[in-house]
Amino acid sequence: MVLQGEVCRLRSVVSSDVGTILLWENDPALAAYSDPHPPYCREEIEQFVENQQLGFAANGQIRLMIEVGTDIVGAIDLFDYNAGGAEVGILIYPEQYRGKGYGRDALKTVQYAARSLGIDTLYATVEPQNSASKALFCSCGFVNFENNRYICRMKRIVAPSILSADFGNLERDTLMLNRSAAEWVHVDIMDGVFVPNISFGFPVLNAVTKVSTKTIDTHLMICDPIRYVEKFVKAGSDYVTFHYEAAEDIDACIDAIHNAGAKAGISIKPATEPSVLKEWLPKLDMVLIMSVEPGFGGQSFMPHSLDKVRELKQMIATLNPDCLIEIDGGISAANAAEVFEAGVDVVVAGSAVFAAPDPEAEIVKILNA
Ligand code: DX5
Ligand code: ZN
Repeated sequence: MVLQGEVCRLRSVVSSDVGTILLWENDPALAAYSDPHPPYCREEIEQFVENQQLGFAANGQIRLMIEVGTDIVGAIDLFDYNAGGAEVGILIYPEQYRGKGYGRDALKTVQYAARSLGIDTLYATVEPQNSASKALFCSCGFVNFENNRYICRMKRIVAPSILSADFGNLERDTLMLNRSAAEWVHVDIMDGVFVPNISFGFPVLNAVTKVSTKTIDTHLMICDPIRYVEKFVKAGSDYVTFHYEAAEDIDACIDAIHNAGAKAGISIKPATEPSVLKEWLPKLDMVLIMSVEPGFGGQSFMPHSLDKVRELKQMIATLNPDCLIEIDGGISAANAAEVFEAGVDVVVAGSAVFAAPDPEAEIVKILNA
């Protein structure tokens, strides 16, 4: 594996009782390493893949060496891993290689591997505890949650917004989303009062839920949402998110959603600070940060939203690490990477998906940004 300023893409993972082999697509020799083994040649590795039965690393641990030219400059470890989580370790060996950016590439590479292995959360104990090592982990989406322990959620979800679908072909578009890599479908409900636009109501939502096999993520841009939350749960919403600015009794709204059997989210508009949500974070399942003024698809992303994501992420790390962060408005494959790196779990994308010549491919692009 060569990590000179680029992120290696994982090509395949072969697991067995013995361990795991990782193959990296930008390594011409497809060399996989693991202490104390020497490098293996391409033919050997391909044979192992074909036989589907051999691994290199010791059980529960993957060690990859970081090679620059012919020098081994460091190692990346993933250990104690299972689908729920894993510890990550990065060692940059000789002094002369430190501060060259290999650590960041290595960390991003191991994150890529973790996603491919279905690991939800990475944990790291950052040593030495200096500002450079902390900055490295923070720039890759880790947040501090206790002492020098850092946590990073790996799961990426894309929620295409059917606001941008073709309503004359809603069944076709919903079936396309069923086939796609998107896990959620985002449903925008606008009442023409809370926002200066009217979208659609229950008949359209019912048409989607009848066909959809995905998680239904309903975003209520309506005044006094408590009047309708139960109805939206009954209509098939798995998540119901209402606006902080639109609700009189936030607790009652969250409770009504939970009592009806769905997960509850609160959304904040671009001018609302995340700190206003502090007291409700322990019982929320999701916070939705609007990265455009709510009301219309196709607007430009507001960059200050990322500072809000980072602030919220830090609050969530101590108050309720299970709470998801969703972002909505102006997201495409061009900015999804920085959005995920800031700590977002769920990305809403309307026009970027539905205006693309190949929406399914676009969803994959956003996921792998
Ligand atoms: C805007 C809606 C968004 C919208 C996103 O008020 O909440 O969900 O559909 O559309 P794009 O991705 O086009 O900005
Ligand atoms: Zn929305």
